[in-house]
Amino acid sequence: MNKRILVTGGTGFIGSHTVVELQQKGFDVVIADNLSNSFEEVVDRIAKITGVRPDFEKTELKDASQVNAIFDKYPDIQGVIHFAASKAVGESVQKPLMYYHNNLTSLMNVLDAMLSHNVHHIVFSSSCTVYGQPDKLPVSESSPRKKALSPYGNTKAMCEDIITDVAKVNDMDAILLRYFNPIGAHESGLIGEYPQGVPNNLIPYLTQTAAGIRKCLSVYGNDYNTPDGTGIRDYIHVVDLAKAHVVAIERMLDNKCKSKTEIFNIGTGHGYSVLDIINSFEKVNDIKINYQIVGRREGDIEQVWADTTYANNELGWKAERDLDDMMLTSWNWEKSRIEN
Ligand code: UD1
Repeated sequence: MNKRILVTGGTGFIGSHTVVELQQKGFDVVIADNLSNSFEEVVDRIAKITGVRPDFEKTELKDASQVNAIFDKYPDIQGVIHFAASKAVGESVQKPLMYYHNNLTSLMNVLDAMLSHNVHHIVFSSSCTVYGQPDKLPVSESSPRKKALSPYGNTKAMCEDIITDVAKVNDMDAILLRYFNPIGAHESGLIGEYPQGVPNNLIPYLTQTAAGIRKCLSVYGNDYNTPDGTGIRDYIHVVDLAKAHVVAIERMLDNKCKSKTEIFNIGTGHGYSVLDIINSFEKVNDIKINYQIVGRREGDIEQVWADTTYANNELGWKAERDLDDMMLTSWNWEKSRIEN
């Protein structure tokens, strides 16, 4: 019998790619999502890719009774991958209570339901945002967390703490995956990121500029202390990131965890500047991007990239897709949306 995993936020960007990878590894999946930032059609698209339709429950995770109802309906759930969260940094500054309610209450309801239904394993989507601007690069898991610059970043650190405290005194283990910058899309062109409104993040703004939806990409600052002056990030292909979740859940199901809560950096270990990204995009897709240098964006850090040694050695996972692949699939995804 297949093992079943509950994927909260499973119709979202990273969630949908993870559902595909889980199914391709033989897991049964039930998705819980309130569709606040995604579409139910994603479930059909996942089915097109994998040949299997995951179960889908439209669920408001802030409502404990709805969370319990899922665990009651699917008593074979063996583990949870918890993606469901609000993630817009700027919006979180404007609407802090919404972010604390959405991100903290949902997590606590999921943990409560796991305890009352004897589900022992949780993978949580954390972020490199918890490191702030690290003192030393590349940044490893043992680097100190720094005070978050936004309520969004705060919720990631607070969720890490809540999970750690709960796992410590219960029959539960947890893996916290600290993602760097997830980009790219599935090679099928059927799933990817659906930004709503004007994108805040670099890649959707870039692809929308290439598509003519936006006139000009603003590069936020070229006076950073980096080789070309623009900010540096560790961009990781969403399919590589999705595969890390499968490895993490398998590790817990096989009882291989070395502590109740384990933390892994999920990046490539390479830093690329904003101009590197634009150059790679232009080269692999043979398109010129209209861009201009503007002032720095408030709250941005200068540079960060991951030390992935621990994840590579301990999880036996390594990012395999390079920057060109990320740029190709990001553009394919944008084009497929224009065509449909
Ligand atoms: C932010 C969050 C991160 C979150 C991620 C995805 C922080 C510090 N970071 O990452 O936690 O996981 O979004 O939601 O909270 N840039 C431009 N022009 C643009 C957009 C971005 O030049 O129009 C630059 C930025 O200055 C930065 C780089 O591109 O140097 C990446 O920015 P972005 O894609 O927004 O991601 P982060 O800010 O790194």
